[in-house]
Amino acid sequence: MLRLAVALLVCLSVRAADPVPFSHKRHAPLKLDCVYCHATAKTGERASYPKSSVCKTCHVDKATALAKTDRIEPETSVYMLAEFAYFSHAKHTGAKIACQKCHGEVWTMEEVTQVLPMTMKACVSCHRASHAPTACNKCHELGQ
Ligand code: HEC
Ligand code: HEC
Ligand code: HEC
Ligand code: HEC
Ligand code: HEC
Repeated sequence: MLRLAVALLVCLSVRAADPVPFSHKRHAPLKLDCVYCHATAKTGERASYPKSSVCKTCHVDKATALAKTDRIEPETSVYMLAEFAYFSHAKHTGAKIACQKCHGEVWTMEEVTQVLPMTMKACVSCHRASHAPTACNKCHELGQ
């Protein structure tokens, strides 16, 4: 999988304070698995973002002051639910729903754009269609 990496000397000339640019489209030819970077997308509630050490597998990068453990994450997320709604990636990927179903074809995207709206309606209409639970307390803690 990392054959290409050997010949790679891409220099990311960004300062640590700036958000590190990342384009899925640019990385599409590498055919990486999503969980290569979003490590807990199949096992956790959150998908999570990669540490810079993951990037450094391929990018020799003396220009940045990023620690290996710093995560490469957007300043403002495209996908973000309010605190009062419960969502779990593991429960959905466990039900064999592809990432693309909710996030679209990210490999064609320079910047990630929203496919699944962050609304209750979007969740509930798929739950109805796929006979998944629609009881309020599946997604909301009641009695507070
Ligand atoms: C080489 C690492 C890498 C791979 C592989 C990768 N991503 Fe990402 N992804 C990132 C990084 C870094 C970000 C955050 C940067 C940004 O959005 O500006 C991100 C952001 C995202 C976001 C946006 C989250 C938000 O709320 O803003 C989604 C959705 C996403 N990725 C889905 C996927 C899916 C689905 C796949 C597989 C088809 C995938 N990614 C493969 C590195 C990767
Ligand atoms: C498996 C190897 C691999 C990994 C892992 C990887 N990249 Fe890349 N990256 C590449 C390759 C190959 C290119 C060149 C693509 C091209 O020429 O368009 C590239 C291009 C880029 C570019 C564009 C550089 C330019 O000259 O415009 C940026 C920025 C970048 N990667 C950031 C990241 C970040 C941030 C991460 C970690 C979240 C990451 N990459 C992880 C292989 C990788
Ligand atoms: C059923 C729809 C659905 C599926 C399938 C899905 N996601 Fe998500 N994703 C979401 C929602 C909703 C959020 C926002 C979650 C929140 O704010 O609690 C999200 C958030 C994210 C984020 C933002 C960061 C984070 O930690 O949550 C990334 C990255 C991401 N998803 C990647 C993936 C990947 C990779 C897959 C496939 C393995 C995937 N998603 C499958 C709906 C989905
Ligand atoms: C693409 C269709 C689809 C979308 C969109 C979707 N879900 Fe689901 N969801 C499912 C399926 C299928 C299951 C699994 C049902 C099962 O395991 O029997 C599930 C399971 C769940 C569960 C676990 C239910 C349980 O029994 O414990 C929760 C919580 C949940 N979804 C919340 C959400 C939220 C919140 C959203 C919107 C942000 C959302 N879902 C969007 C299809 C979807
Ligand atoms: C499949 C998951 C799911 C189920 C089932 C669900 N909700 Fe929601 N609900 C959400 C999400 C997601 C939001 C929007 C969160 C956000 O704005 O980020 C939301 C928002 C809300 C809001 C805030 C107002 C609004 O419309 O944005 C209320 C009130 C609410 N839900 C009540 C309920 C009640 C009552 C039930 C049962 C009849 C229910 N929900 C069932 C996921 C769900």
